[in-house]
Amino acid sequence: MPELTNAEIIVKTAAFVRDKLEGEGSGHDWWHIQRVWNMAKELAHQIDEPIQLFVIELAALLHDIADHKFHNGDITVGPRVASEWLRTLDVDENIISHISDIIMDLSFKGADVKTPMRTIEGKVVQDADRLDAIGAIGIARAFAYGGHKSRELYNPEVQPTMHSNFEDYKKDTGHTINHFYEKLFLLKDRMNTYPAKKIAEERHKFMELYVSRFLEEWDGKK
Ligand code: ADP
Ligand code: NI
Repeated sequence: MPELTNAEIIVKTAAFVRDKLEGEGSGHDWWHIQRVWNMAKELAHQIDEPIQLFVIELAALLHDIADHKFHNGDITVGPRVASEWLRTLDVDENIISHISDIIMDLSFKGADVKTPMRTIEGKVVQDADRLDAIGAIGIARAFAYGGHKSRELYNPEVQPTMHSNFEDYKKDTGHTINHFYEKLFLLKDRMNTYPAKKIAEERHKFMELYVSRFLEEWDGKK
């Protein structure tokens, strides 16, 4: 087989991911991937340093191919499935290992757990993924995920927990409003890149407004 060009590898990978995640019902569907892919490219264009767009695009496309949330918390499945796929396309082993590391490190693991990215490519993909968790779309995704997992919308008797380790974060089955306090409201201060910080601020404000309105309506005040 003649060697594929980078553009061909990206097209084939997008088709592979779309086929796997089309119609997924928890907010980790193909359209989430497409938004993260587009946002990652946009952030990369705005960053003034040498950057490997090929790595960014492949990591964005493959980052949720086998998310730990749907594999008993196992964070090694995603990187493994992504690596196996890239090997079928004869992608360079160093690039595969870089992408695999990005996918492994990407996820949020609790309010008090640091998730530093090792490379600028990883920082960009993490920012793009996190931007899709906040704002109007982030709100929709949080409730879609909560419904998928049969969680309550809100329960005023259950307070948020600032998780200090990934195990406790994974085990939490609390209501969706708590997820805003345990993760979504924290993301704006954890963006790695300047362009992502700017977008996050707007999205954050919208989420705050939404949750305050939600709580007012809950109490019959609006
Ligand atoms: P991460 O890998 O950082 O968790 P993902 O791209 O897999 O990021 O998507 C995470 C999204 O899944 C969140 O933005 C949120 O909408 C949803 N989610 C995850 N855990 C919960 C939860 N406990 N309650 C509500 N939504 C959740
Ligand atoms: Ni994602």
